[in-house]
Amino acid sequence: MKIFWNRTLHRFCSTKYFSTHATESISKYPRRIFSGIQPTGAIHLGNYLGAIAQWVKLQNEGENIILSIADLHSMTLPHDPKKLRTNILEMTATLLGCGIDPTKTVLFQQSTVPEHTQISWCLGCICTMPRLSHLPQYKEKSKDLKDIPLGLFIYPVLQAADILTYKATHVPVGEDQVQQIQLSQELARMFNSRFGDTFPIPHAIITGSEYARLRSLRDPAKKMSKSDPDPKSRICITDKPEDIVRNIKKAVTDFTSQVTFDPEERPGVSNLISIHSFVTNEPVDKICRDVQNFNTGQYKLIVADAVVEYLRPIQERISHYLSDERHLLEVLKNGQEEASEISSKHWEEVQHKLGLKFKIRKQEKIKTHG
Ligand code: TYM
Repeated sequence: MKIFWNRTLHRFCSTKYFSTHATESISKYPRRIFSGIQPTGAIHLGNYLGAIAQWVKLQNEGENIILSIADLHSMTLPHDPKKLRTNILEMTATLLGCGIDPTKTVLFQQSTVPEHTQISWCLGCICTMPRLSHLPQYKEKSKDLKDIPLGLFIYPVLQAADILTYKATHVPVGEDQVQQIQLSQELARMFNSRFGDTFPIPHAIITGSEYARLRSLRDPAKKMSKSDPDPKSRICITDKPEDIVRNIKKAVTDFTSQVTFDPEERPGVSNLISIHSFVTNEPVDKICRDVQNFNTGQYKLIVADAVVEYLRPIQERISHYLSDERHLLEVLKNGQEEASEISSKHWEEVQHKLGLKFKIRKQEKIKTHG
């Protein structure tokens, strides 16, 4: 109850809560933001700058946000159940440590709300196989597999269900998720045109600039990724200071020693400038002016120091939350209850639209009551 009132008050006081968007099929639905993250080990700076920092900002502006720890998505490749359990709790502690406040944002574990898989099945019945086989993430993740799990193939349908289950209007994500959001839009349109207007068409919110696709430190042509086998390709939010310094020192740049921002021609050094700009909250051109007398080798140490300092309080908060498992489970339980309140209402509507549920006529009701 306390959480409900805090959240209501927080939204009421916010001007953004009343904002509207004149985009397709959105205006008649209340603005609602949904996003998710897989609990597959420590998050890296790409996840943080591309998604989590955005969630925290939107939350603190008073937006209506629902966040899912997408445990079902993380089972689409072989997984260890014990590790998954640990990862779910670690992800909860990490999100809290990064500033997600469960009195303002609904934070829950995907598999505890059955409507996701129920609506996913319904969407799977209108989605075609060729459409899924063309998605780049599927191609990328399945290319080295001899036997491709069905779950990996239908992963984006479950993601669409995550979003549509809450009638979300906006989805803040990094650039790599854009195609999945486009599929969610298509499925919403298909469902609406076959069964009547039910879902808003969800729109991706992508952070500006380079943060939407932070690059690997070892190969700036690739995005920073959890699945990169080389741990030196990324900075994880819980990395020790010495590892952060080592990885940034080893970051691949180019043969020009000056520090200039040019993401097309100089992606490596520009990636470092983007990170530096984020953690210091300084504009890119000011940074470039300030460090004009340093070479890239010296500049890497400045970036590393700034990142270590930025992450220090976040790491302290994560350790604090990790020490209280009961609190983490309580946060997830409350989140599940709040998410279920919305999802069960929408699932009932979907069941009616699809002919899965019978309407009880008034007369029959009277009869049964004698
Ligand atoms: P996941 O867990 O891979 O990543 C979580 C978020 O981090 C963003 N991200 C990046 N942003 C910038 N630069 C990078 N290098 C980078 N790497 C990752 C991702 O874009 C994402 O926003 N399928 C999703 C989880 C999910 C979801 C959803 C998202 C499940 N259901 C519904 C939105 C809506 C995923 O695997 O994210």
